[in-house]
Formats: sequence, structure tokens, C-alpha cells
Amino acid sequence: MQAYPEDHGLHRVPDDKLYNGTNNTSEGKKPLTLRELIDALHKAFETDHVSIDHVQELMVSYRSNPSEWKKYAKFDRYRYTRNLVDEGNRRFNLMVLCWGEGHGSAIHDHANAHCVMKILQGELCETRYAWPTKSETNDRTNEPEELKELEKNTLELNEICYINDSMGLHRVENPSTVNPAVSLHLYSPPFSSCSVFNKQTGQRTACNVTFWSKYGEKRNRDYALMLGKQLGLKGPRTAKPLGQNLNEEDFEKFRDEQVYQLYELMNAATGKTDTNSKDE
Ligand SMILES: [Fe+2]
Repeated sequence: MQAYPEDHGLHRVPDDKLYNGTNNTSEGKKPLTLRELIDALHKAFETDHVSIDHVQELMVSYRSNPSEWKKYAKFDRYRYTRNLVDEGNRRFNLMVLCWGEGHGSAIHDHANAHCVMKILQGELCETRYAWPTKSETNDRTNEPEELKELEKNTLELNEICYINDSMGLHRVENPSTVNPAVSLHLYSPPFSSCSVFNKQTGQRTACNVTFWSKYGEKRNRDYALMLGKQLGLKGPRTAKPLGQNLNEEDFEKFRDEQVYQLYELMNAATGKTDTNSKDE
């Protein structure tokens, strides 16, 4: 895929390009099923010169069908989740994100990747920000710089939007206090870390991103086993307690991602199934 095309502002697909359950009369095409979308994306990414316009058209051509994506839609009570659907021959990641009521992301960049996002259920609010103007390497004053808000959009069922780093940073949230939301995201190339930003100070922090589930299967136990192996632990019954208890103040100092991983680890180590999550 080429580096960022020049003509992409935030991309909201006009109504006449959205499918409404019947054939798309303007192009005479039926909506794609999720399987057809994945196959078409694989084909689109076979070449080194992928058209981001074509990728967006494919994402538009899928019409949300919960019976196709619900196996990936694994919610968590505390924060939004990222659920891998397809690894796209390592050229892209397709994932379902599940947003409980009021859940939102941090302000983040996209690690030099293209991001296309589509609403599968509910609504999401996207707020876009300009990059901090100060360079971390050149500016030694360390003065805080509040991030400048560029625009705010509400995305509705089946709408898509597109962003890359040349367009700024963004934050995504489910504005509803009563309805969950689900979205389909394509990232190319795939990335495992990005940066998150403090809105008030503009301070940038590196952040690893993980999957709550892969291919419809939760990974809590695998994650804990892998971590336990790295630490040389024998298991919850035989290992001596490590470290000390954390109080609430300590948690305030943790990044969302760290709290998330601790929560996963606790569930897996105690052998509890995740009864709080809403698997739909
Ligand atoms: Fe994003």
C-alpha cells in the first residue's frame, strides 16, 4: 500500500454509497457477507500497490449482519475490547471492537498504519486532534501543550471513517449510556504498539496493544500461562505470593493497557471465568 494518499480527509461515506438491504442500485452490487469481505480483502492485499480507496469501498460493501460477527464480539465490563478476526497474511489486521456503554479509547496515533473503521452496531463518536506542535527532541521547555481539537463526528450503523497519522490523532468513544456499540477495524500494516496522548499536556506515551480474543476464542488463560512461564511460576497453588497488594492510588498511575493486562491475569490465575463480560 502506498504511503498516505494526499486526498483523504476524514472519510464518511455518502448515503448513496451505503447499502440498504437491497441491491446497491448505483453500482448493481449486492452487499458482501463477512466471509466475502475477508476474501476480497485478501485479494486486494495480494499486490504491493494496494488502493486504499478500493479497501474502503470493500468495507462499505459489507453490511453489518450480527449473525456473522457476534462470535467475535466479546465485551468486557470495564473497557472496550479488541478482537482479532483475520490476520490478512500479515499485511492487515481485521478486528471487531466492542464498546460497552460509555467506553472510550485514549487519544492515540496509528503507528504509520492506515485505519478504516466501520460501525456494526450502535454509534461511535470520533474526536480528531492535531498533533502536538512541539517536537519532543527539540523542545526542552517541557511546557504542557493542550491538544487542539479539529473535529468531532458521530458515526452511525454501517458508516465508515478513515484515518492515518498525516490526518492527526483521534479518540473514539461510545456516547451511549444505555447501548453497547460494535465496530469493525482494518489496520494496515498491522501494529502491536502505538502512542497515546494526554489531552491537557500533549504528553506522549508508548502503549502496547493486545487482543482480548483471537478468532472468536478468549486468550486470558493463554496470556497468563505465557506470562507465568516467563516468570517461572508453577501455578497459583504452589507459587509463593509475588510482590505486594496494590491500593487504589497505585492503579491511578497505571495505563489502561496495564490495568487491562492485570485484570486478564487475575481472571486466568484465579481460574475464574469472566462472568462479567457480555459475550454476545
Ligand atoms: Fe484509532
